[in-house]
Amino acid sequence: MSEVAERWGSRRAFIMAMTGAAVGLGNIWRFPYMTGENGGAAFLMLYVMFVLILGLPVMMAEIAVGRAGRRTPMQALSHLAVNNQRSPHWRWIGLMGAVTVFFILSFYSVVSGWSLEYLFDSVTGRFAGQSGAVIGQSFEGFLADPFRVIFNHTVFMLMTMTVVAAGIGGGLEKLNNVLMPLLYIVLFVLVGYGATASGFQDALAWLFTPNLSVITTSVVLNAMGHAFFTLAIGACALMAYGAYMPEHQSLPKAVLTVAVLDILVALLSGIAIFSVVFSQGMDPASGPGLMFVTLPIAFADLPGGSLWLGAFFLLLAMATWTSSINLAEPMVAMVKSDRMSRSQAAMLVGGGVWLVGLPSALSFSTLKSWYLWGDGNFFDVVTTVPTDIFLPLGGALIAVFAVWVMDRDEVFKALGGSNALCQTWLWLTRWVSIPLVVVVLMAPLIKSWLT
Ligand code: PHE
Ligand code: NA
Repeated sequence: MSEVAERWGSRRAFIMAMTGAAVGLGNIWRFPYMTGENGGAAFLMLYVMFVLILGLPVMMAEIAVGRAGRRTPMQALSHLAVNNQRSPHWRWIGLMGAVTVFFILSFYSVVSGWSLEYLFDSVTGRFAGQSGAVIGQSFEGFLADPFRVIFNHTVFMLMTMTVVAAGIGGGLEKLNNVLMPLLYIVLFVLVGYGATASGFQDALAWLFTPNLSVITTSVVLNAMGHAFFTLAIGACALMAYGAYMPEHQSLPKAVLTVAVLDILVALLSGIAIFSVVFSQGMDPASGPGLMFVTLPIAFADLPGGSLWLGAFFLLLAMATWTSSINLAEPMVAMVKSDRMSRSQAAMLVGGGVWLVGLPSALSFSTLKSWYLWGDGNFFDVVTTVPTDIFLPLGGALIAVFAVWVMDRDEVFKALGGSNALCQTWLWLTRWVSIPLVVVVLMAPLIKSWLT
């Protein structure tokens, strides 16, 4: 359990690695359909608010713990706890995080598989010149085919585990460096297309004019869960990356940069996707298929549309790849031991995640009506419960650890900002962020007791 020696090659590399983990399906696939299902601008407003008052402080706490501990999450937590004369049991936060990312990765891989399928479909020109209705049906047809869905899920898991087996290293840094700028370019092109579409004004109104009357406890809970999901926090996954953070770098600045880049990707995809939704008279609340149906429509009639669409799905696949590598890292780090090599651990974890992904892959065909919770099937439950409940819970516990268990000087040093900034962070985390998570998590319970 000694300290890790590796560091990210540069300040920029660390920011890129964190952005790689943060930017993924959460921004491009999950954000638009959640916004659509939760009433539009009000959800966007809550989500941005949660990113600022919960996400930023918790993200700083999580990475600071990793940076101060310089070990894998469970080891870092018990090492720091014991050094502060506290119980090593704090390390179970790391286990809870690993279980949470296990379930998240299981569906993340399935949906990333959808985008691999769409990558091939778009470059082969399958959508060119097709009508919205045909494109919508072809998505449903694809989801109803267990063999194709499972095949793509398998390919994606193999891609992820190959990198994780090799360990975080130069390859990932370079990938992130090229990928991010390209992704922004393609998103700007998409928004440019959106601006010429007839539904553009409606899309802007839907996204930016909040109707506060749609806000319910479940909208608030969804917005909080999404803030944690999109920033990749609450499951000790970024903690694992924090262990490699260079010595002389200010954490608050890095974290702010990542959050801004992450929000920007969500906004750009939201504008592009809702422009199509309103131009085509589609239902914003049509669920997880939203991105896969709208974007092929956007490009269907454009010259060179198949190529742009292919470029988009390629970049999306790469963005989800860097996120899934981050999702897998804490589990592999945990399972790896003296008797089990990194590759063996990656195989074991990958196999487990692949298996648990199968019911998600089949949730649109064979297991469609296998209801686990009310009218929610496996996919519905696995895409909400870990995100809405376990990420905020884990994030709050990590924050408690940073502000109540760790020594003040120790955590301030790991944050690396000015003293005033550190004091503000401490105050905000103790008296605003942690209580707020507790209140939002309890709200649905309290409400159900009252009624
Ligand atoms: N932040 C990633 C996304 O938005 C998902 C993720 C969640 C990654 C939790 C790591 C940990 O797609
Ligand atoms: Na994200």
